[in-house]
Amino acid sequence: MAKKRTYVYRVSQKRWFEAQKWELACWKKIDRYTPPQSLIQQFLQKLLEKTYLRLEPIKEPDDWNFWWQEKFNNYKFLPSVVENAIEVGCGPFTNMRLISKKIKVGHIVCSDPLARQYIKLNRGWLSWAYRNNRVLIDDQSLETIPFATNYFDLAVMINVLDHVQDVRRCLKQAIRIIKPGGLLLVGQDLTSAEDLSRWPNLKDIGHPISISQHTLDKILLPRFKPIMYKVLPRDEGRNPPYHYGTYIFAGKKKLKQKD
Ligand SMILES: C[S@@+](CC[C@H](N)C(=O)[O-])C[C@H]1O[C@@H](n2cnc3c(N)ncnc32)[C@H](O)[C@@H]1O
Repeated sequence: MAKKRTYVYRVSQKRWFEAQKWELACWKKIDRYTPPQSLIQQFLQKLLEKTYLRLEPIKEPDDWNFWWQEKFNNYKFLPSVVENAIEVGCGPFTNMRLISKKIKVGHIVCSDPLARQYIKLNRGWLSWAYRNNRVLIDDQSLETIPFATNYFDLAVMINVLDHVQDVRRCLKQAIRIIKPGGLLLVGQDLTSAEDLSRWPNLKDIGHPISISQHTLDKILLPRFKPIMYKVLPRDEGRNPPYHYGTYIFAGKKKLKQKD
């Protein structure tokens, strides 16, 4: 008989490590198979990195980051200048690379438990930005992120929560580190009970967690004033058979926070 799948908000460390191992292997594979730059390009890149120009690589691999950008209305709602910004679960290619082209960001932190591995990859914006002193990296899990309370003006968390070990702890920490009046961006594939029942035996190694709109609404709506809030229907999502919707949220942290 098919095993019934239910919502999972928290997994063991062993299960999370398994997912992270899978995640890193995917990015390493993409790194290996992304066509190398020609020798001339590599030479020019190294040369330009040494000058004050520090030009960015022309074409970098991407993890749906342009797709998310479009769904977030090209980030047009963001202020033109932000002093301290963090992307949590930033991945090797990051959404910050696109955001920082739209607005001026004083200081960028890119946080991801795999960050130290990602900066060793040959390609990807994170390793370039790290080599060129554009970002500070942090390799803590969001559940135990070490930054001060009420610190960041902007936090970005896109396509992360179904990869973590404990969703509620992650959301709590992300909210904690944002200043009152600061902004949080959340982009997330959503899973319904029906989605889970349609794929009863599926063991999705890389996505240990499943998330519904209700979980996110319950935590975010009392604490943030929404600036952008929509749930894209199934057929507009990245993976329609598995996800009934996509959560697109940008909100301003309320001055008074409920516990
Ligand atoms: C699918 S990738 C998305 C990367 C990036 N947000 C993007 O959109 O390009 C998910 C990322 O979440 C990270 N992650 C997994 N568990 C995490 C945790 N507990 N805290 C923070 N990040 C986590 C993974 O290492 C991975 O880099």
